[in-house]
Amino acid sequence: MKKLALFASGNGTNVQQISEYFANNNDVKVSCVVVNKKNCYVIERAKNLNIPCYYFNRKDFYESDKVLDLMKENEIDYIILAGFLWLIPNNLLMKYNNKIINIHPALLPKYGGKGMYGHNVHEAIVLHKEKESGITIHYVNEKYDSGDIIFQAKCKIEAKDSADDVAAKIHLLEKEYYPKVIEKVVKENK
Ligand code: GAR
Repeated sequence: MKKLALFASGNGTNVQQISEYFANNNDVKVSCVVVNKKNCYVIERAKNLNIPCYYFNRKDFYESDKVLDLMKENEIDYIILAGFLWLIPNNLLMKYNNKIINIHPALLPKYGGKGMYGHNVHEAIVLHKEKESGITIHYVNEKYDSGDIIFQAKCKIEAKDSADDVAAKIHLLEKEYYPKVIEKVVKENK
C-alpha cells in the first residue's frame, strides 16, 4: 500500500477528486491533507472525506522538521500538490526525491513561474488570446514549475472564452487526469 499526503491551500476540488478516486483502492491511500492557510475550504472537504488535515505555517515549513516528521509518522510515500503554492523546502525535497508531484493549470513551460497560479494563469491565457491551454503534471524541484514533466493534456480556447470559461475547461482536465496519472506513477515505481 502506497500512502499519499495531499498538500493544498484553496478550494480543494483536486483533493476531493483524488481522495474519491482512491477511496476503495487497495494499492493507494490518501493518508492526510496538509494546508498552509487557516480558513481554506479544503479543510472542510477533508473533514467530510474523513481524512486527517493538518495546518502548518511558514515557520513550520521552512524553519523546522515538523512537516517532514508528520510525513514520517504517517509513512507517506508520495507528496501530491493540489493547489499548494509555496516552494517545497529542502528537507522534504531530499527525503522525497522524485516523489513530489504537482499539477499546473497551463502547458508548461508557458505560463509558469512565481505568481502564475490558479486564476492568474487563466486570465493571462485570455489576455494573450491563446488558442489552446491545458494542464501539466510534473515532478517538483526547488524552483517553481520547472521539474520534469510527467504528463500534459490540452484543450481548445475559443476567442469568446472568459477566464472563468478557461478555468472550467482546465478543471475538467484536472478531474479526468490527475488521479489516473498519480496512480500510474505510483504503480510504475513499485
Ligand atoms: C488548480 O487549478 C491547480 O492546477 C492550480 O491551483 C488550482 C487548485 O484548485 N495550481 C497551481 O496554479 C499551481 N501553480 P483546487 O484547490 O480546487 O484543487
